Amino acid sequence: MNNFKLQDISIDYEKSSKVFFKKSLKIFNKFGVLLIKNFWNRNHIEQTIRNCDSVLSQPSIGGSKGYSIKDFNKKTFDPMLYDSYAVKYISNRKLIKLVESFVDDEILIGEYFAKYDLGNNKIYFPLHSDYEIGTDLMKNKKYIVTKKLMNECFSVGVILYLKKTDEGCFTYSVGSEKLRGSYGLSLDSYPEKIKDSIVNNVLKVKGNKGDLVIFDKRSFHGPDQPSKSDRFVYIFEYIKKKAFGNIIKCPPPLTLSDLQGLNKKQLNVLGIGLKSMIPFKNHHLRSFNQKKEFSFLKLFIDLFYKIKN
Ligand SMILES: [Fe+2]
Repeated sequence: MNNFKLQDISIDYEKSSKVFFKKSLKIFNKFGVLLIKNFWNRNHIEQTIRNCDSVLSQPSIGGSKGYSIKDFNKKTFDPMLYDSYAVKYISNRKLIKLVESFVDDEILIGEYFAKYDLGNNKIYFPLHSDYEIGTDLMKNKKYIVTKKLMNECFSVGVILYLKKTDEGCFTYSVGSEKLRGSYGLSLDSYPEKIKDSIVNNVLKVKGNKGDLVIFDKRSFHGPDQPSKSDRFVYIFEYIKKKAFGNIIKCPPPLTLSDLQGLNKKQLNVLGIGLKSMIPFKNHHLRSFNQKKEFSFLKLFIDLFYKIKN
């Protein structure tokens, strides 16, 4: 049991006004995680939820609007494709400025997806770290996480709660970012003593609809599981430019008209005109065709249209 409290890592954007950036940086540097309240326009969050409700109501079949599903634990989808507000959140100038202060550099978009975790009381996504020395982003030894890079906060994760979440909330092992992923990504590969300290320092980051969690992705983190409650979040990531150069992880799909009004810097963060490490088709949201079930469903759909015709 640790002594960390949610209030230690929390900041209210509306109440902190002028000291927001300074205070947020202080919290992030000390704890590696930050919970921001009242950052977004409430009406925009409500509209986002309405936009998402229609996506979450049906799977994407035959190219229809809907969610992706690869197992019975979660539904996922591309947030910027179905929700124009997601473009605004991810390219938000205040958020960019804040994260740039955390990584001490300009940033580019990394990960991005909407995730609806089904509270099925299973541990399907345990505490884990996202990076270790040697992580090969493109699996071709071109973009490798070096020991030097692991000594810097080079990747920041962002979670936007779209539903009040207590049970099943995001958890963060305070101080685990300082381990620099030295024994790997899985908790089981760590010596017992370190493993115990990682687990004992876990802080449950409970949040309300619209709350934003920002965290160092070198840490141990993950949803609090098993959980009987559903969780709905937007998850995205920013990577500092100096880490891998002027290249994004994977290009995000969106409607071009939603880029209207964004300035040069915002467009750059979204990766407009930049090359990517991972091809669009290889993003994990689009890999259902690599599952065994795919051939069965494909056969079913093909057969259905054959009979119908
Ligand atoms: Fe992660």
